[in-house]
Amino acid sequence: MAIINIFLIVFHHYIVFLKNIKSRIIAGSANLRHHALEGVKGTCMDFNIMEWAQLAIRWIHIITGIAWVGASFYFVWLDMNLTPPEKDGYKDKAGVGGELWAVHGGGFYEVQKYRLAPPAIPPVLHWFKYEAYFTWISGIILLTILYYFSADIYLIDRSVADISRDTAILIGLGAIFGGWIVYDFLCKTPLINHQGWFGALLFVLLTLAAFGLSKVFSGRGAYIHVGAMMGTIMAANVLKVIIPGQRELVAAAKRGEAPDPKFGLAGKQRSLHNNYFTLPVLFIMISNHYPMTYGNPYGWLLLSGLALVGIMVRHYFNMKNQGRARQGFFLLPLAFVLFCVIAYAAAPKSIEVPAEQVSFAEVQKIITTRCVACHAAKPKNEDFDAPPKGVKLETTAEILKEKLRIRQQAVDTHTMPLGNLTKMTDQERALIGAWIKQGGKAN
Ligand code: HEC
Repeated sequence: MAIINIFLIVFHHYIVFLKNIKSRIIAGSANLRHHALEGVKGTCMDFNIMEWAQLAIRWIHIITGIAWVGASFYFVWLDMNLTPPEKDGYKDKAGVGGELWAVHGGGFYEVQKYRLAPPAIPPVLHWFKYEAYFTWISGIILLTILYYFSADIYLIDRSVADISRDTAILIGLGAIFGGWIVYDFLCKTPLINHQGWFGALLFVLLTLAAFGLSKVFSGRGAYIHVGAMMGTIMAANVLKVIIPGQRELVAAAKRGEAPDPKFGLAGKQRSLHNNYFTLPVLFIMISNHYPMTYGNPYGWLLLSGLALVGIMVRHYFNMKNQGRARQGFFLLPLAFVLFCVIAYAAAPKSIEVPAEQVSFAEVQKIITTRCVACHAAKPKNEDFDAPPKGVKLETTAEILKEKLRIRQQAVDTHTMPLGNLTKMTDQERALIGAWIKQGGKAN
């Protein structure tokens, strides 16, 4: 109970903090804009601090994420390619368990891995942790700016669940941190020793999480929270298990004692989990460009299927690196077939074309009432200073130009109107679909 109370108190402060910071940023941005306009009178300079902040943080998130995933791939690859040291080496290789030669960027590299610890800890020892921490921190900031500041638009979909902003954020954070608690608990049970079963259980639990979240959030909101859950597990593995374990290894080596192998083992298990998480998480991170995934009524199942594709691909490469490519030869074709099956199954229902011609006037009326609050040169919706993604739907020419994207966003999927804020009906969607199918002309 005490823990729940503490969580609620911390959460309350988090929400107050969010509200404060958002209003400050907006006030600051209005101020800046005012000064900018004063400074450059006559030009129509207009900036949006939130957009620039988003750009900067997204950029950082990608850079640190690439560094982290790159290091994860490299070290798992390294481990799987190590060969026992040569007997008649040219230098003392006592304690070396495996070694490897590589050529890269114009030079030769020789890497050696010690079975336990080297005889002495070298003065300069490289650690790999800040990539993970900064990926997580920038990710949480991005999640906050995008999905929590604008929860009503991006996170909540009233046609899925009519929840308040605070409830939505509470569920989101609960899922992110709850995911780690459940995972960490499972890692401490004997099940961890059965790699295959453990992986299967994690997969089922994450699918359930995706299903549950899709019943409270918008499609995008559900996807990004599954991604955040997995990313948090990965970063917490580094912070709470891998790095402390390494500290123990170093400390034992400095004391001249043999380190307890349990630390090395736990670190290895967790970094292997992280390695299998990478491809599904990367898919989730790019998924918001593809409404046919998160916008599908079975988006959670699609997520689970595509995650499986990623895991199979990862598994193939891990087997290949261990010299077992032949046993795993079927994995890549199977992943490809599964990907195609998913793409086929996710295809939108074909639109029935009514005998009567749908008039453009009718279509324009729907778009004007359901879309133009946001998609206008000067949006009425106060969350937007400019038309989102540059899409304007005010004039006939603009609607005709965007008709394929309109179909993708509002007919084939229910991605638009965002969060169905303007309460578009299925009948209206069908009508627009029919009009496009009939040729989509301004008759
Ligand atoms: C509440 C505001 C809002 C309403 C209402 C709204 N949209 Fe959007 N729309 C957005 C936002 C925000 C984005 C950018 C989404 C993103 O960041 O990926 C967007 C993006 C789009 C895009 C570009 C998608 C892409 O990534 O290529 C299209 C097309 C679109 N909307 C069509 C529509 C249509 C059609 C309607 C009405 C049926 C509509 N929108 C209603 C806010 C809105």
